[in-house]
Amino acid sequence: MIRGAGDATAPEHKPYLAHEDAAYRRRPIPLDIVGEMQPVPADGDAESRLLEEIALADGRAALTEYKKRGIGGEVDARVGRWGRGDEIEALGVAAAHRAADGSVRWAAEAAVAVRARSDAVEREVIELTTGLAPVAETVTLWSHRESQRRVAEGIGYLTFRELLMMEVVLPAPPPEPRKDGALRPFIRDQDEALIAAINNDAFAGHRENDNMTVDTIVDLERQPWFDPAGLLIGEVRGAPVGFCWTKVLPDGSGEIYIIGVRTELHGTGIGRWLLLSGLENLATRHKLRTAFLWTEGDNRRAIRLYENVGFRVAGANWELSRLLGVAQPKG
Ligand SMILES: CC(C)(COP(=O)(O)OP(=O)(O)OC[C@H]1O[C@@H](n2cnc3c(N)ncnc32)[C@H](O)[C@@H]1OP(=O)(O)O)[C@@H](O)C(=O)NCCC(=O)NCCS
Repeated sequence: MIRGAGDATAPEHKPYLAHEDAAYRRRPIPLDIVGEMQPVPADGDAESRLLEEIALADGRAALTEYKKRGIGGEVDARVGRWGRGDEIEALGVAAAHRAADGSVRWAAEAAVAVRARSDAVEREVIELTTGLAPVAETVTLWSHRESQRRVAEGIGYLTFRELLMMEVVLPAPPPEPRKDGALRPFIRDQDEALIAAINNDAFAGHRENDNMTVDTIVDLERQPWFDPAGLLIGEVRGAPVGFCWTKVLPDGSGEIYIIGVRTELHGTGIGRWLLLSGLENLATRHKLRTAFLWTEGDNRRAIRLYENVGFRVAGANWELSRLLGVAQPKG
């Protein structure tokens, strides 16, 4: 059983505070530690600046898009801001995901300013962030950095899931035209239910992407990056069979955001056709030289497809959980 790190009623759990840890106190105090992190008032600009600064230094986004939308109040999320004085040095988000079976899971992510990073601060921020999830809920932790993951494992978290970031140099091989098939762009106020249906069929049982609704898609249509021409719907003999949703981010990078094929047609070449069409779209319409995507580390079919068209692993994210009773930080 996974214990919610935010379960304030669990007697064995309390937030990890560096200054109360005897093992930590025996060590030389790192220069940047002057006390535990304190809540800092909300300020959208300061949060954006912190996230941009971290993304620049780490070469990758500090929080996933869903968690960022939690900061903006668009999705069900709780946000913590901590620092010393008035300056935000760490930002934590715990967001809820409602699965197709109605169950709700919470997942947390923590972004820490490069200047504030030390094992002690990282530990404290992990505890504070997972503590944002409601009492008695299970909460998992997503980590985008190896250094943060190592700290989390040091306080009892176990990595149980890996997402791989894969990159490809464009142009990729062109898609082979299909005599029986055609691609068309997404049509607003018409295709929302279709995309949700194909998605939920293709991703049945997936931890986050198994319960797309028309509302989810309408929300995504409001995002600044949304482009109906970047959401290609594949039709074979007139019937929709899958889609490839591409995204061009504000920094100009191109992503294969979601690709899904109706389950009964898996393994029949439609995924390859859609993927190459999406990549062609990014290379020709947007003149992009590279593209990336995220995939489950154990999605062998998808990884095989991506490798076959030239994608290579360029990074990873990890999801961790902590087992009940494993709350003691290691010295
Ligand atoms: C991943 C997905 C889009 C691939 O589409 P597809 O139509 O099933 O794949 P294709 O038939 O085009 O096959 C692509 C490659 O995978 C290989 N493949 C097919 N079935 C496979 C299997 N069971 N195991 C391993 N490889 C397999 C094929 O040999 C093919 O390789 P090739 O390019 O050398 O011919 C589709 O299976 C899907 O929607 N899956 C569920 C949702 C999902 O996982 N999306 C991706 C999230 S990152």
